[in-house]
Amino acid sequence: MLCIALRLLSNPVLSWPLAGMLSAAPEGVKKPTRGGAAVSSSIQNSNIIAANLAAVEAHFHSEATNEVEAALDLYTDDVVWEAPARGLRFEGKRAVADNYTQMFAKMEDVEFETLQRFATEDRVVDDSVVRFRLTGEGYLPLSPGAQVEMRLVHIFEMRDGLISKEIGYEMWRTAA
Ligand SMILES: *[C@@H]1O[C@H](CO)[C@@H](O)[C@H](O)[C@H]1NC(C)=O
Repeated sequence: MLCIALRLLSNPVLSWPLAGMLSAAPEGVKKPTRGGAAVSSSIQNSNIIAANLAAVEAHFHSEATNEVEAALDLYTDDVVWEAPARGLRFEGKRAVADNYTQMFAKMEDVEFETLQRFATEDRVVDDSVVRFRLTGEGYLPLSPGAQVEMRLVHIFEMRDGLISKEIGYEMWRTAA
């Protein structure tokens, strides 16, 4: 994939759509220069990966309202959000935001422990454990007040430093 990207970038005819994509990348990602393209494009790729990792790091947060809102800013307008264990799929930032906000309103004392996280130019994968107390109905099929420990695996699809798709594989149990 890297080789293909490098070949595309070093071809002046084919390089413009890729260069356009890269110029829309977040701050700190340098635009490609003609000549020396191979070296600068590999720097580009690692900058894109770093930006993707930073966006996902910022997306993991507590139940605090301001943090939930900041996390929603990291979605593209056409984001798709899935929680397969609960059979949920939402399309578009508004629909996703509604359910996401309701979900965090049912949690308190949220703590994430990241086990591993890695990224490519267009994906981030995260394997975490999240611990919280359930405060209401409508999120998990557990009694309000339950202390929950959830193994949570995410595949994020990334575009221009934002999350364009989030699939969260939720494996919950009540903690002792
Ligand atoms: C999210 O939406 C689904 C489907 O409409 C609903 O069953 C669920 O209760 C919502 N989640 C929360 C936490 O409200």
